[in-house]
Amino acid sequence: MKVLSGIQPTGRFHWGNYFGAIQQYIALQGNDQSFYFIADLHALTTIRNSETLAQNTADAALDLLALGLDPAQATLFRQSDVPEITELTWLLLTITQMHLLEKCVSYKDKKERGVPADAGLFTYPVLMAADILIYDSDTVPVGADQIQHLEVTRDIAQRFNSLFGETLVLPKPYVLDASAKVPGTDGEKMSKSYNNTIPIFDTPKRLRKLINRIKTDSKSMDEPKDPDTCAVFELYRLFASTEEQAHLRERYLADGMGYGEAKEQLFESAMEYFGTAFERRHDLQQRLDDVEDILQAGALTARTKAREVVDRAKQVCGLSRR
Ligand code: ADP
Ligand code: TRP
Repeated sequence: MKVLSGIQPTGRFHWGNYFGAIQQYIALQGNDQSFYFIADLHALTTIRNSETLAQNTADAALDLLALGLDPAQATLFRQSDVPEITELTWLLLTITQMHLLEKCVSYKDKKERGVPADAGLFTYPVLMAADILIYDSDTVPVGADQIQHLEVTRDIAQRFNSLFGETLVLPKPYVLDASAKVPGTDGEKMSKSYNNTIPIFDTPKRLRKLINRIKTDSKSMDEPKDPDTCAVFELYRLFASTEEQAHLRERYLADGMGYGEAKEQLFESAMEYFGTAFERRHDLQQRLDDVEDILQAGALTARTKAREVVDRAKQVCGLSRR
């Protein structure tokens, strides 16, 4: 299996990113190809502050390594360290039909809300197609919201192949659970854009504060509560064992449990779940040169494969020397 995925460094990674994406990356490392990159070129479509982008990118690398991405089993790199990607993007842009991009949600949403969109946002799915196709990837672990982009990637690859002959490999999305949407503190989907996230790495004090902010109904202490409609319980299920879940479920259904108790359980189970990752991150923070070496070695491996595919694509388009 040739696995490839990318994640944007648009802010600190949160529980939604972990359970919706990062956990899958880690489960899939060790395949014949396990390429994971920090999509800083994509993040440029929204972040226009150099320090923020650089800091987010550095944090993303630390987070991914701390969470268990192992450089001995997976190749980790920054997207912008592989310039071949922008080269392939142009080749793909020349054959991408406008209607494919016009229907893409990120662009359509902005347009419908009357927000002006840049060409970078409009063509974002083509850059993403290049990311995937440039390594002959066949398996792309992503959250459900990215499936549309995978379809566009396949359409672009198919059109390229039908115009120039079989050149690009058609990839498939690998979605762990298409319905898994981690809720945020307001009960809606957790997302950096909604200001409702719980970051994976934060101080215990701030994490506790955020958890306390999770919206619940206003049932009093002595009323039974419904675990199946409660964001606190939904989040707890991500961290707790089956027995622990059954125990808290009983507490919900009985009277005498306040939401404060459930939130405390959630805090404790999350701290335990990410305990090793917290330690690893602390250690990596003292070895930033090693982290940079990992990214550079990753870029070198990625570029070698990327060059091969770009040369193949250039050849069939008539861009190579005879
Ligand atoms: P955000 O919405 O916070 O900006 P991204 O769009 O950068 O997050 O998402 C990165 C990855 O994490 C994607 O694969 C996405 O599907 C996954 N993801 C993000 N939020 C959630 C969530 N609340 N539940 C499940 N997966 C999520
Ligand atoms: N668009 C993806 C997201 O926002 C990130 C991404 C960029 C990506 N290139 C990719 C994911 C290639 C998978 C494969 O989450």
